[in-house]
Amino acid sequence: MATALITGASQGFGRALLGALVAQQWTCVVDAPDTEALQAATAGMPGARAVSGDVADPGHRADMVAAVGGRLDLLVHNASALGPSPLPRLADHPLDALRQVYEVDVVAPLALTQLALPALQAAPAPTVVVLSSDAAVRAYSGWGGYGSAKAALDHLAAVLAVEHPEIRVYAFDPGDMRTAMHQAAFPGEDISDRHEPAAVVPALLQLLEERPGSGRYRAADPLTATR
Ligand SMILES: NC(=O)c1ccc[n+]([C@@H]2O[C@H](COP(=O)([O-])OP(=O)(O)OC[C@H]3O[C@@H](n4cnc5c(N)ncnc54)[C@H](OP(=O)(O)O)[C@@H]3O)[C@@H](O)[C@H]2O)c1
Repeated sequence: MATALITGASQGFGRALLGALVAQQWTCVVDAPDTEALQAATAGMPGARAVSGDVADPGHRADMVAAVGGRLDLLVHNASALGPSPLPRLADHPLDALRQVYEVDVVAPLALTQLALPALQAAPAPTVVVLSSDAAVRAYSGWGGYGSAKAALDHLAAVLAVEHPEIRVYAFDPGDMRTAMHQAAFPGEDISDRHEPAAVVPALLQLLEERPGSGRYRAADPLTATR
């Protein structure tokens, strides 16, 4: 039976992906900082192993990898910090908040990948996915903190793919989704025209099934690498 580790699965895209993988008989180790919210998200899912905590916490990362056991088929770096809302221009970006964004969005995924590498290498066809954003490749006012962190994460994924050809490494840009993070980026705005996260999951599942070469992919065109 295949095992996945998905960070940030109490709501949004991570929760939707968890539901889809469990329905396909995957075992999924998942986290989120809020224990009750994570328990509610995984209730009734025998394939889900909930380990609540903050991905930026080294002890928590070790607990998650321990919960995986010896073999990890899929590692999805989905948990993310947006930074202050409303989004500040770079001239005003609080530096402590920027450090926190980088800890969650860049340092934690690399640290978790380092810890999980032996289990990934024990899988027959291992895959690592980082959730990217168009803010990683386009310059939008207010998105410099989060966007630069996602650009760094994309680059870590690209280098990891070169250093570990035995692992497929995908930076996956889901496009705009109707989630708490998206609402925080657009406070007070009606975001009801954005896709539900569950509508984006099939694009990632297609990527996982088809296993094209490592690279950066967009949900809108899931089998065409953009880098
Ligand atoms: N939504 C969009 O339009 C959009 C667009 C492009 C890319 N993305 C990316 O897609 C991914 C999912 O975003 P989303 O919109 O689904 O976000 P979301 O609805 O806000 O969900 C994020 C999940 O991650 C958890 N989380 C946050 N910080 C964490 C931490 N430090 N440690 C562990 N778990 C943590 C959250 O738990 P709590 O709720 O308890 O904080 C929640 O379960 C992110 O990487 C995001 O950058 C989103």
